[in-house]
Amino acid sequence: MRALILGAGGQVGRALAAALPQAIALSRKGLDITAAAGADIDWSGFDTLVNAAAFTDVDGAESTDGRAAAWRANAAGPASLAHVAAEHNLTLVHLSTEYVFDGRADEPYPEDAPIAPLSAYGASKAAGDLAVGMVERHYLIRPTWVVGEGRNFVRTMLALAARGVEPTVVGDQIGRPTFAQDIAAAIVHLVSTGAPYGPYHVTGSGEPASWAEVARTTYALSGHRDLAVTETSSEAYFADKPQAARRPLNSVLELSRAERAGVALPNWRDRLADYVSAGLS
Ligand SMILES: NC(=O)c1ccc[n+]([C@@H]2O[C@H](COP(=O)([O-])OP(=O)(O)OC[C@H]3O[C@@H](n4cnc5c(N)ncnc54)[C@H](OP(=O)(O)O)[C@@H]3O)[C@@H](O)[C@H]2O)c1
Repeated sequence: MRALILGAGGQVGRALAAALPQAIALSRKGLDITAAAGADIDWSGFDTLVNAAAFTDVDGAESTDGRAAAWRANAAGPASLAHVAAEHNLTLVHLSTEYVFDGRADEPYPEDAPIAPLSAYGASKAAGDLAVGMVERHYLIRPTWVVGEGRNFVRTMLALAARGVEPTVVGDQIGRPTFAQDIAAAIVHLVSTGAPYGPYHVTGSGEPASWAEVARTTYALSGHRDLAVTETSSEAYFADKPQAARRPLNSVLELSRAERAGVALPNWRDRLADYVSAGLS
């Protein structure tokens, strides 16, 4: 695989650069994806373009400026990459999110569930998905609750636990954490085995949990079982946060398509234990 990785400064981008050491990996400073079509790059040196760049500030995307930035990075950027991929005959790998769904279903979401985003972030990502879907050779990878090297919920909980904080966390948003290195491994597997093109849900496996349960498990794994994690509802938690984005209550994705393609989907509880112990060592 002669791959160019974009967004290499982010959680998934870093994991991809580690999984594909022979690839060229560019952070935003190296290439702004909204300018990819006009960039001074010899595309003939690549057969695969992997885009891990995105505007991921879900609440920030609700502001006037944030909405524009989200649409630039999450819709116009991928559309520009789709143009490049089609013109230069590249396989395009792109990251989506379960925020393109409304989370009202009481079942795990399959890849072809109706798109119905609740937030500006989700809408901008949905537009990017549609652009990427126009490229014949594309993989659209949809993780949830990403945990890697960078800012994420588990890191926030570890920092709070270390300070002795007893947090209040929502208990009615259900999903499964996905570890960045497993997303990178899934991408390498799909591309290198020539799996059928299209969308793939790739998340941690195992019993889904609420954010409160993920917080409680993180506290316990880091030796802070004595500190209380109090559960609240999304409605109560966001009542005094009018600028916050609406989030899907059900973030659980159906994983059978990735399973059939032979993608390894480790149990998120095992991965969380590894992640916490690596951080503590
Ligand atoms: N994080 C989650 O929980 C989650 C859940 C589901 C799906 N996803 C999706 O998974 C993908 C990776 O997420 P992540 O957690 O790795 O995100 P992340 O850590 O926020 O990384 C995103 C990276 O993209 C860069 N970027 C933003 N705009 C750019 C632009 N115009 N050109 C080039 N680079 C740009 C950012 O740079 P700056 O730091 O300079 O802005 C950042 O390094 C995204 O597509 C996201 O939508 C994430």
